Amino acid sequence: MSRRQLRGGKAHRFGGDWTTEKLEVLAKYLSSYTTALKDKPSRQQPFRKGYIDAFAGTGYRDAHRDDYPADSSQTLLFPDLAGQEPQDLLDGSARLALKTEPRFDRYVFIEQSEKRCADLKFLKSEFPALADDIEIRRGDANLEIQKLCRMTWRSHRAVLFLDPYGMQVEWKTIEAIAGTQAIDLWLLFPLGIGVNRLLTRSGEIPEPWRLRLNLLLGTEDWYEEFYSFESTPTLFGGADERVVKASTQTIGRYFNDRLKKIFPAVAEEPKVLRNSANSPLYLLCFAAGNPNGAPIALRIANHLLKKGLE
Ligand SMILES: C[S@@+](CC[C@H](N)C(=O)[O-])C[C@H]1O[C@@H](n2cnc3c(N)ncnc32)[C@H](O)[C@@H]1O
Repeated sequence: MSRRQLRGGKAHRFGGDWTTEKLEVLAKYLSSYTTALKDKPSRQQPFRKGYIDAFAGTGYRDAHRDDYPADSSQTLLFPDLAGQEPQDLLDGSARLALKTEPRFDRYVFIEQSEKRCADLKFLKSEFPALADDIEIRRGDANLEIQKLCRMTWRSHRAVLFLDPYGMQVEWKTIEAIAGTQAIDLWLLFPLGIGVNRLLTRSGEIPEPWRLRLNLLLGTEDWYEEFYSFESTPTLFGGADERVVKASTQTIGRYFNDRLKKIFPAVAEEPKVLRNSANSPLYLLCFAAGNPNGAPIALRIANHLLKKGLE
């Protein structure tokens, strides 16, 4: 298929400059990862290395930030934040993984949309040498990852990219990933595009939003972390009560600290991905899965997160 044909219908449109930032970090990590594993003597490396993309898209990106699919509106919640930043047709995460040298042994692309799964299948003809090692799974990322994590990981290592539009990821999925002790995780945490918007100024949070936050954060104690109540005495003996909501920094730090409880190493400073109006949309977080590999994985990730675009 030509690029023109893709542009005519199959390109998956999303993302502005921050999309470039996140994909550059991912692509550089993938090649550092496979290079680091290749350089090891084979007796020290009895495992196969995989790439898992749980919100895989089409393989391409053609960025128009206003072009979120209609079916994401409920979980994205606030598509307006995304802005409008057209860009050329570019590689999405799945293609970047397939182009990574040295190559991975296996590629798993998970995607809920039937149409996008059909587009992903074209990647097999674009990368014929890798075709037998590409698996496309249509389904919900949480269920599919939890299934994958239940397999025996002793002889496998992987990098997993969680790139949702909004609040789709569940904490129990992240726990399952950490439980393998074999998977390095790159995750887009929906800081501004989801969590911060669900945390109302008044502190009154509709029940469906509260449940969504519970699923994403894996606990109900976030309310006490994110809200405090200030009481100021009035001249007449009473008190003025004021609800104080946490800053986006506090919310981001809270989530990163939760990652630290379940992974052997977590990047201290996730990258804040902002739209053209400078509003924080997502945090690009990194967690290393294998205790032995964690120091080097963390060193590479920290370097990429600090470096920004070059
Ligand atoms: C931000 S896009 C991913 C872009 C992709 N990582 C790239 O760089 O090309 C999110 C994708 O997740 C898919 N999606 C949404 N909810 C999903 C779910 N629960 N499970 C799996 N895929 C989902 C959407 O159809 C969309 O293609």
